[in-house]
Amino acid sequence: MKVEKLVVGEMQANCYLAWDEQSKEAVVIDPGGDADTIVDAISRNSLKVIHIIDTHAHVDHVGANDLIRQKTEASLFIHSADVSLLQDLELNLSQMLGREKNFLPPTGVLEDKDKLKLKGFDLEVLHTPGHTPGSVCLYGDGRLFSGDTLFAGGVGRTDLPGGNFKQLKDSLEHKILKLSDKVVVYPGHGPNTTIGKERRDNPFLAS
Ligand SMILES: [Fe+2]
Repeated sequence: MKVEKLVVGEMQANCYLAWDEQSKEAVVIDPGGDADTIVDAISRNSLKVIHIIDTHAHVDHVGANDLIRQKTEASLFIHSADVSLLQDLELNLSQMLGREKNFLPPTGVLEDKDKLKLKGFDLEVLHTPGHTPGSVCLYGDGRLFSGDTLFAGGVGRTDLPGGNFKQLKDSLEHKILKLSDKVVVYPGHGPNTTIGKERRDNPFLAS
């Protein structure tokens, strides 16, 4: 799997393109904004985008959903518990950020342990509620796309509508800490890290 990170939108969210080098089949994870930048990266790498996946429905991660769907005709997936947030200006935070916006419903919904299959790699869905009820991490090929569940040295906020700190702690303990130390983590904001580094250094993962 090859990965390119694009930092998009006012909130500097990480959008990831992940693809199989041979077939060029790709997923776009969290198209949060700057649709032109994302479309440029797709064509620069000659990618065929099969799926768009939102790790959760906050506007800084879904802002360019509809434009990227139009340009690529890819299917859009989000966890079932975050579907309603796409249409909810308060819960998707677009109201709070001063640009009220809602988004089209997904093509299909994700549930825990679902596998998205592409040529060359699979992505397994880990339902990790806490930041939002339908937050997910995507795991495949020794990599974890962690959305706003886990950052280098931190975790996602749980004080926003729908957030729940106890759920986040449970998600970290029962899903994230089960992974091997070698797994490379690609968070929704900020730099990459590894599970091993976070297990050692992240104060929120300390037992
Ligand atoms: Fe978020």
